[in-house]
Amino acid sequence: MTIPQQPPTDKQPAALLNRRILLGVSGSIAAYKAAPLVRLLVQAGAEVQVILTEAAAAFVTPLTLGTLSKKPVLTGFLRDAASGQWHNHVELGLWAEAYVIAPASANTLGQLANGLCPNLLSAVYLSARCPVFLAPAMDLDMYAHPAVQQNIARLRSFGNHVFDSPSGALASGLSGPGRMLEPEQIVTELITFFVG
Ligand SMILES: Cc1cc2nc3c(=O)[nH]c(=O)nc-3n(C[C@H](O)[C@H](O)[C@H](O)COP(=O)(O)O)c2cc1C
Repeated sequence: MTIPQQPPTDKQPAALLNRRILLGVSGSIAAYKAAPLVRLLVQAGAEVQVILTEAAAAFVTPLTLGTLSKKPVLTGFLRDAASGQWHNHVELGLWAEAYVIAPASANTLGQLANGLCPNLLSAVYLSARCPVFLAPAMDLDMYAHPAVQQNIARLRSFGNHVFDSPSGALASGLSGPGRMLEPEQIVTELITFFVG
């Protein structure tokens, strides 16, 4: 049974209503924030398709994100290995009106910056024609490393929107930049983008 989406209220701007949002989630401790992010996007009326990397699935389950997004979560290229059914990364890339990758791990940033596509998340990135928004999340020394900063600069030079990472308490116990931008702020950024 399909329950129709609620129309937006004053507090749920229409900018995201019926928008097709791909959400890529990679393997950071901040992956748990993908759950409230999906919830906010769905509340705003967006159609959300979640893609998890294998590492991300250890942090947040497909069951949680699939329930919140009301769609099966995609975790790999193959849908059913026995029958040869697969998830079409090209179609997914063309379907999306925005591709949000949050959290974006150091590893995933490196793949995307260098055109590597060992998983569905990164293969869809290469096929996507829509705007891409990335929310890096990692420990402060990883975030400050020149390799990561160069990857971020390179991704920006491709026209991707890479959010600055806020400073604050990190899961490691250290404090500094490396936190994922909060889900509410990511939604605000998307609304601002679509409102123009
Ligand atoms: C407990 C734990 C927390 C981690 N947190 C992060 C993180 O916040 N950011 C990050 O870039 N990598 C983090 N990693 C390492 C990534 O999970 C690892 O590099 C992984 O290969 C990323 O794969 P993916 O980019 O395909 O999701 C963490 C690993 C563990 C075990």
